[in-house]
Amino acid sequence: MNPPAPKNPGPSLESIQDLLRVAFAAAELAHSPYSKVKVGAALVTSDGQVFSGCNVENASYGLTICAERVAAVKAISSGATRFEGIAIASNQDAPMMPCGACRQFLVEFCADLWVVVQGREGPRVQSSLGELLPKAFGPRDLS
Ligand code: THU
Repeated sequence: MNPPAPKNPGPSLESIQDLLRVAFAAAELAHSPYSKVKVGAALVTSDGQVFSGCNVENASYGLTICAERVAAVKAISSGATRFEGIAIASNQDAPMMPCGACRQFLVEFCADLWVVVQGREGPRVQSSLGELLPKAFGPRDLS
């Protein structure tokens, strides 16, 4: 007997590469005069739409918004709420993992989102939101 198919089997290599291209292009649009860190995210929905985002910093530093949340807000405000995965790229050598706030923001919409992270060099990290934010607090905790 075959094992049950995973709920979210993850992307093919081809779609990872396509999404990372979108994420790297988005990173170029970052507004990050303070940190100089450029981050881009490409969020793919279950019907194949892709929403990109970049980090947007502010002279009042605490108002900075991460690339992942920009992509998610663009998707949600366009009517897309079912997410499959996210590719995150940056101008840092090592893969820049999504911050805790972004993990929490994303788990609201897809607890088993797959996540691919790539820096300028070095290994590409593939994971899932469940792995990055285990035992998460989410919408079900309020039902
Ligand atoms: N940043 C992101 O865009 N995503 C993350 O998950 C972590 C951090 C941005 C925020 C800030 O502009 C810069 O990276 C340095 O923290």
